[in-house]
Amino acid sequence: MSTNQDQNSPFTPSGLPIQTELASDNNPQAIPPTEIPQAPSPGNRIILGDCTQVLRQLPDASVDMVLTDPPYVVRYRSSDGRSIANDDNTRWMFPSFSELYRVLKPDRYCVSFYGWSKAERFLSVWKECGFRPVGHFVWVKRYASCVRHAQMKHEQAYLLAKGEPKLPAHPPADVQPWQYTGNRLHPTQKAASSLVPLIEAYSRPGDTILDPFAGSGSTGAAARYCHRQYILIEKDPAYYQAAAARLN
Ligand SMILES: C[S@@+](CC[C@H](N)C(=O)[O-])C[C@H]1O[C@@H](n2cnc3c(N)ncnc32)[C@H](O)[C@@H]1O
Repeated sequence: MSTNQDQNSPFTPSGLPIQTELASDNNPQAIPPTEIPQAPSPGNRIILGDCTQVLRQLPDASVDMVLTDPPYVVRYRSSDGRSIANDDNTRWMFPSFSELYRVLKPDRYCVSFYGWSKAERFLSVWKECGFRPVGHFVWVKRYASCVRHAQMKHEQAYLLAKGEPKLPAHPPADVQPWQYTGNRLHPTQKAASSLVPLIEAYSRPGDTILDPFAGSGSTGAAARYCHRQYILIEKDPAYYQAAAARLN
């Protein structure tokens, strides 16, 4: 997250910051204004718990959009030693995504980031649950987050449909610039401003956006900016606290 909480931060009408300098792992000072300050709303919920258990308590067809960033299943450990629950197994995948499918209204969208090295597994689980892949997003980094067989310079997410959603009035481009957050609240923190175009395209004002792998609450920050409600679920108490502090 950027520490830039200035209400005068320069955002374009679409919610994307006007960015002058991109940060990189070598240039962590140059963090763009990825955070979006807004007043809290009483309808929003941040829940500490395992999402499969928590989702079982939500009614069928009760959320308008899912926007989520689950574990990539890569046993991630950040340079400062932070790790991610369930990043070492796929047992949670089918139970959680089948509950997600149930609580999503018919003819709506789910956007899910995923780990490219487990693409087959993610796709087979999503399809088994009933989701239909209808798009794919790539965010291009100005820096490599890891260098092995290739320089790893992108993040990725699938656009999944439940039923036949109405086509968006203004579909976003499926290649977007990546915005580095500094990962201060969470080791794989997404920029709230990167999520805004997705929420704007695939939901309407007043809708409820669900993120069952909420981490530091980036989806909540973006939903609030877009005048949507949010339900966030996070299993790790430290990240739950970070999300609660950020959004409350
Ligand atoms: C990739 S991170 C999300 C980071 C988030 N997008 C952000 O910007 O901060 C995935 C999160 O899912 C959480 N998680 C893993 N398994 C979970 C489960 N079964 N229920 C709820 N949260 C879970 C992890 O603790 C982690 O914070």
